[in-house]
Amino acid sequence: SSSNTYIFFVFGASGDLAKKKIYPTLWWLYRDGLLPENIIFIGYARSALTVEKVFQNCEKYMKLQDSERDLYKKFISINSYVSGSYDNPKDFQRLHNEANKIAKEETANRLFYLALPPSVYGSVSELISSNCRPKEPAWLRLIVEKPFGKDLESSNNLSKHLSKHYKEEEIYRIDHYLGKEMVQNLVVLRFANRIFSRVWNRDSIAAIIIIFKEDIGTQGRGGYFDEFGIIRDVIQNHLMQILSIVAMEAPRSTKGEDIRDEKVKVLRRIQPIKMEDVTLGQYVGDKNSSNEEHRKGYLDDEGVPKDSKTPTFAQVVMHINNERWDGVPFILRGGKALNEKKAEVRIQFRDMPGSMFEVDGEKTARDELVIRVQPNEAIYLKMNNKRPGEMGFRVEETELDLTYNERYQGVKLPDAYERLILDVFMGHQINFVRSDELEEAWRIVTPVLSEIDDKNNKNVNVIPYPFGSSGLQEAFDICSKYDYTYSGTYVWKDERSN
Ligand code: BG6
Repeated sequence: SSSNTYIFFVFGASGDLAKKKIYPTLWWLYRDGLLPENIIFIGYARSALTVEKVFQNCEKYMKLQDSERDLYKKFISINSYVSGSYDNPKDFQRLHNEANKIAKEETANRLFYLALPPSVYGSVSELISSNCRPKEPAWLRLIVEKPFGKDLESSNNLSKHLSKHYKEEEIYRIDHYLGKEMVQNLVVLRFANRIFSRVWNRDSIAAIIIIFKEDIGTQGRGGYFDEFGIIRDVIQNHLMQILSIVAMEAPRSTKGEDIRDEKVKVLRRIQPIKMEDVTLGQYVGDKNSSNEEHRKGYLDDEGVPKDSKTPTFAQVVMHINNERWDGVPFILRGGKALNEKKAEVRIQFRDMPGSMFEVDGEKTARDELVIRVQPNEAIYLKMNNKRPGEMGFRVEETELDLTYNERYQGVKLPDAYERLILDVFMGHQINFVRSDELEEAWRIVTPVLSEIDDKNNKNVNVIPYPFGSSGLQEAFDICSKYDYTYSGTYVWKDERSN
């Protein structure tokens, strides 16, 4: 039987992701008693650091309470740090021996988290596989973060490389949106409710829009971001993952492979995006703002070339060519430096046919189901109601509302990374991206990406928008063209006060 000792390796231990997300997540899991008892952590990076230095770096992201100090010390004491290169086999052998020494056995299960720049993925993954595998029957699991390539070809090359050195069941590709409560809830909402399952198709639905908004700019990450742009940063991964769950057919079971099979199937029915369905924007400083960050544009961010055309806002429209969705636009919109932080899915239903409440050709408002991923998780259904207390039939828009912090008071929703890292311990791959899913997602976006990346392409128009905008008018116009209507006559309670 396999060992009950675990070694968790953090590659890139001195980097941004490790300090902001990975170490804090490991600490919270440890603090909450969710990790196996026999566990040790080993950080690895090029710089000559110490455990103390690594933890000094992360301290401000740990949300430490005074009462936790003793436990925190204990956590630090089961951490080690090894420095070495990312390309020399000798360093990986040394790491391997060191790990055996610390664990006092050669059959501890090993998890490797690669919080690394993509340039070293290839060599590091290969060297781990050839030098750092534990003795059987212990297992090894590799956790990788995006970017998984930059386009279809580079992503396929990376997948091929990984598949040479790992079995698919050893690879955990993180898309942290799959760890969010509301994204996980989509499967239950869709497949456990008759009222939704019957209308979840082209007969009843006019349009679906999946929105990601942030109210911050690139904040010094511009150097990284400039090579990728918003389509690669959030649309190809986070928003398309949501799309595939919203649009897939019912999986045979809740098993990881069954769900992932259905996600891939629906992606296969999506045509590559066309340039005419794309709206791009780049934020500029808002000179009149009292907020200092808002006065700076994308081009002012560190590491961004002054003539960069990289989009920080994009809206794309996808069309799913199958019986369920033919003719229903899926609009995916993502942007940085907008007026608010929010992610949500809006399912807009068709007009009520032959409505007796139509006044002077003015239609009654459409029903809309909103799944609010963050912040303030909620599901609400915009609907029409008789204006209460009045004589006659005045129709008024209102909502059926399931706001989590009201209905589920005191329930703690774990952070996405906490869930996902626990999933890796358990060997659950449901919430990780399989190589064929990844390939399909890249197939769909790669043609427009290569047009956008082509500096001489006259078809590409990147529209400037001031920091703090609610969106781009050009994008809203495309939504109307595709029959997603926004009347502005109804505002959800959470936003009324803003
Ligand atoms: C990351 C993107 O994947 O997701 C970032 O690279 C973005 O640009 C982040 O800010 C958003 O995550 P969340 O969980 O804050 O919505």
